[in-house]
Formats: sequence, C-alpha cells, structure tokens
Amino acid sequence: MCGIIAYIGDGEAGKILVDGLKRLEYRGYDSAGVAIDTGEGITIKKGAGRVDELNEMLGFSKLPGKRGIAQTRWATHGEPNDVNAHPHTDCSGRIALVHNGIIENYLELKEGLMERGHTFKSETDTEVIAHLIEEELKSSENFEEALRRALLKLKGSFALAIIYAGERDRLYLVRNESPLVLGIGEGENFAASDVPAFLEYTNRVVFLDDGEYAVIGKDFYEVKRIEDGERVEKEIQEISWTLDMAEKAGYPHFMLKEIYEQPQAIKDAIYGNMETIGEIARAIDEYEKIFIVAMGTSYHAGLYAKYLFQHLLGKVVLVEDASEFRYSAEKVVDENTLVIAITQSGETADTLAAIKLAKAKGAKVLSVVNVVGSMATRLSDLVIYTHAGPEIGVAATKTYTTQLTVMALLAMAIAELRGVNISTLKEALLRVPGLVEEVLKHDGAIRELSKSLKEARDFFYIGRSFNVPTALEGALKLKEISYIHAEGLSAGELKHGPLALIEEGVPVVAIAPSGRLFEKMVSNIKEVSARKGFIIALGDSEELKKVSDVFVEMPSLPEELTPIVYAVPLQLLAYHLAVLRGNDPDKPRNLAKSVTVE
Ligand code: G6P
Repeated sequence: MCGIIAYIGDGEAGKILVDGLKRLEYRGYDSAGVAIDTGEGITIKKGAGRVDELNEMLGFSKLPGKRGIAQTRWATHGEPNDVNAHPHTDCSGRIALVHNGIIENYLELKEGLMERGHTFKSETDTEVIAHLIEEELKSSENFEEALRRALLKLKGSFALAIIYAGERDRLYLVRNESPLVLGIGEGENFAASDVPAFLEYTNRVVFLDDGEYAVIGKDFYEVKRIEDGERVEKEIQEISWTLDMAEKAGYPHFMLKEIYEQPQAIKDAIYGNMETIGEIARAIDEYEKIFIVAMGTSYHAGLYAKYLFQHLLGKVVLVEDASEFRYSAEKVVDENTLVIAITQSGETADTLAAIKLAKAKGAKVLSVVNVVGSMATRLSDLVIYTHAGPEIGVAATKTYTTQLTVMALLAMAIAELRGVNISTLKEALLRVPGLVEEVLKHDGAIRELSKSLKEARDFFYIGRSFNVPTALEGALKLKEISYIHAEGLSAGELKHGPLALIEEGVPVVAIAPSGRLFEKMVSNIKEVSARKGFIIALGDSEELKKVSDVFVEMPSLPEELTPIVYAVPLQLLAYHLAVLRGNDPDKPRNLAKSVTVE
C-alpha cells in the first residue's frame, strides 16, 4: 500500500513530487523517496519517516530536474527502513522505479536473477522488477520492449512509475490491480495513485485499466496493452473536485473537516442519486439471492443495508466480509445472484476479488463507491456513487454516512416499486442533512466528556436492529484512532460473555433511539448499570435520560434512518479521544486508507 507520483515537464520536478507525496500520505507514510533526472544521471534520495521530515533532511524538493518519480510507502515486504524505501534500481542505477502493490512471484524471480549475477540491495519485492527490466534489456530492441517483457513475467498487483536514464524525454507507468491515473497538463504530464496528488496542476485525467501501461512525455501520452504492446484509445475525463475540497479548510485534521462535511455530503448523496436510483432499483428488484460484500466501515454499511432490506422489502440478504467471501462463495454464487459491493475507494483488494468472483460466476454486480473511475466501478454492471467527495482521513466518516444514505435510498426505491407507501421515510431522509447539522452542535460537549474518558482501557458499544452496525462502527472508529480497546455488539449479546467484563466505570455507549426495541435497550442498560458500568446513552427520550450517566440528546426520526445521524456523535467521540491521547487521527498507526493488497 503506497502512494506513487510521477512528473515530466518544464516545472521543478522535486517540488511538484513532494507536494504530491504529501497529498498521498493517506495511502502510506512509513518511508518515502524520489528519483529525479538531474542532468547527471538519476539521483535518488529516500529514507524511513514522514515526507516532511525526509524532505527537510534529504532535500527532495531542492533536487534540480524536470522529470522524476516518487513514492510514499506502507510496508508489505521488508520492514520500513532507508534501504527498503522506494525508489529501487537495477544494478547499473540507470533504471529506477516506484511501486504500489505486491509481486507474488518475486522470490522465484529473484533467485533466477541472482543466478545471472544481479545484486540486490533491499528485501523488497519491488527491486526484482528493476533487475528484471535490466535483464530483458540485454536482449530487447529498446527499453519499452524490455519493460513489456519484464511485466509479462510478473504475478501480483502493481502500479509502477519508471524512469530510465537512457531515454530523457519520457517516463513509463504501469497499472495492474493497483490504482494509477494520468494527469494531462499543458507542456507537462503527471501520473499518481490518486488525483489530489496533481490536482493543483490539472483536472484532466486518464484512468489506466488493469494490464495497461503508459508512456508519457512533456507533450504526449500513449496508453498501451501489456499483453501485446497495442495502443489503447483513452478518453480524457475532467474531475470536478477543486484542490480546496481535498485540503483541510482550516480544520486541525482532515477527519474533523470530513465529519463536518457530512450534512453537505449526505445531501449530495441523496440528490446526486435521486433521479437514477429508480432505474437501479428496477434492475435488481427481481433478485432473491443477495450478497453484500465489503470490508471495514463499508462492511458496517452493508450490515445496515441488510436490516433495511429485510425490514422494508422482506428480502433475505447475506453480508459477507469480502476477504472471506472470495474464498468461500464459489459454490453459492450463480447467475441468479446479486452481489452488492460496498467500497468507498473502489480499490480494496479483497472487495475487488469478491467482485471478480461474482462476475466469473455470472452474478449481477452492483457497486456502491465513492471514487469515480475506480476499479470497482469498472468491474461492475451497475454503480451507485456516494458523492462524498475526497476523504483523506484514514478513518472513514462521510463516506460511511453517505453509504448508509444511498443504501436507504435504494431500499426505499425498491419498496416504492412494489407499491409500499414510504412517504414518511422519504420525507425524513430529506431532513437528515439538517439533523446531522444539529447533532454536530454536540461537538463541544463530547470533547468535554472525552476528557473524563481518556484513560479508559475498554469501551463497549451496544445497539439493536438497525443500530447493531452503529455499535460496531462506533467501536471501530475508537479502536482505529484512539487505540483504546473497544467492542461493538448487539445489546442482546451482552449477557453471553461481554457482561463479565463490565465493572465500575467501564464506559458503555448505548445507542437507543425510540422505536420497536427501545424497552429492550433500557433493560440492557440496566444490566450494565447494575454492574456499575458508565452509561453514555444516545437517544431521544426522557426515559433514557433517567437511566444514563451521560445523555446525548438526539433528534427524533424514524428508527430506520437513525444510524445515519447516530454515527456522528460516535465519530466525534473517537476523534476527541484520539486527539486528547496525543494521536494523529488522520494517520492512525499500522492502518491505511485503502488496502490494495490482500
Ligand atoms: C481500510 C480503511 C477503512 C475502510 C476499509 C474498506 O481499512 O482504513 O476506513 O472502511 O479499508 O475500504 P473501502 O475503500 O473498500 O471502503
């Protein structure tokens, strides 16, 4: 998991690459490096650490040159250190490259190359590629052919940017199962793992597909197939995100900014899909066998959708962790199956593998995605975009609530097709952005509350029905960024084990809106109180206030839609606890925004 960027043009490559790397740090940040053509060969500077520190120490941005490549790394093979940092080179130092992904057959390739006299410096899988190209160059007519032949020998996922000292007017980019997009400028061209890396310079982009490579110069770009070197015609797409949208806009962290963007994001998710959702509903209504596949936060959105589909439509839905589905569903997926893949990035390796399995078995695939043009969208039959805008904080916030929103829209659209009267729900959904706005006003109170909780060792989150996913998501947010142990569970499950862990002062967050199961929640809260647990309750009733230690007052709305609004205070709680404990909520340790390896 890494972020890569490449530049060629009249600008100062060092500065452009460093600016781009900073915008890609959400993809990985344990080490970084650049390779720049300084006119005296290719100069490489790299090391372990964050981009800013390394730039200060090694002067990435001060290197002279008009073409270069760079990477910010999240280690997969080889610990994060100076040697394993990218770029990597061949023996001659004339070929340098950066990589995002995993080369599955690197050990076998490495052995063969060592037998042929190649010397390896790092423990990475990446370095093999540079030596492999060097080897192929011995018997190829030109560099491009050598590259293509080397690529044909690789197994695994790879987005690559490659610079070769022997061809000063070009760079090479490759995509296979890891994201890569070209940025087309005037007299300069870019490539990166994600658009914000170069958005300051151009919003005209070309998305590469798996099995493609590109050659870019200052005034040209060509996309070709790895398989046979044939040219592929690609359309230039214009991205409407402004750079401002991808920056912090005055908030101390991206995560807080993104939490506050939710009223708008939810509005965009509703209005951006309103016209087309009926068509999607019609396309999938006939399916009775439905799997939802996703990972992490998106998985929780899937669980919510399951409750909704069962409750509103009487449809049986199975929600599966995509990393399990990909290895267990072979015999149960067929052409009568609908697979809904929820993935904000559209690039999560396990979710893409689940989609591919579904397609191979003839199933219909609907993806719910935030990133336009991402791989999931290209593999699927149908796509619903969540329209949350770029999310930089590693912990998903607005992409989650917009996933919930579009799943609610979809379930409602199907219900409507079947003649179910959903006017109350519809009207309530339109009120949700405003209600989230209201709930954000609890920010100060939640920050205060966090001060008294920051030494807690364990947290529990309980909910029922639609809010079991809310409990799971609240606990996940806390774990991810505050590093406090947290468990989310159905309130009914409490008595089957976790209650043994409740003792005096242990915080238990109870998600308890009015509705069918409110009384049951109150009983569970009392079970916790009897063990002197500390109850933080989210709800809209006086009765709840009486049984809780801290009451977070929530607006009233139909229980089906409460998860969208109730997620927000839980995000704020996790955020403030993380900050109070001295953590960077945008870049939690050991985690990455988009997990593009298995
Ligand atoms: C990573 C991120 C999570 C995200 C999960 C799934 O673990 O840190 O925030 O929920 O991947 O990502 P996806 O892009 O498929 O929604």
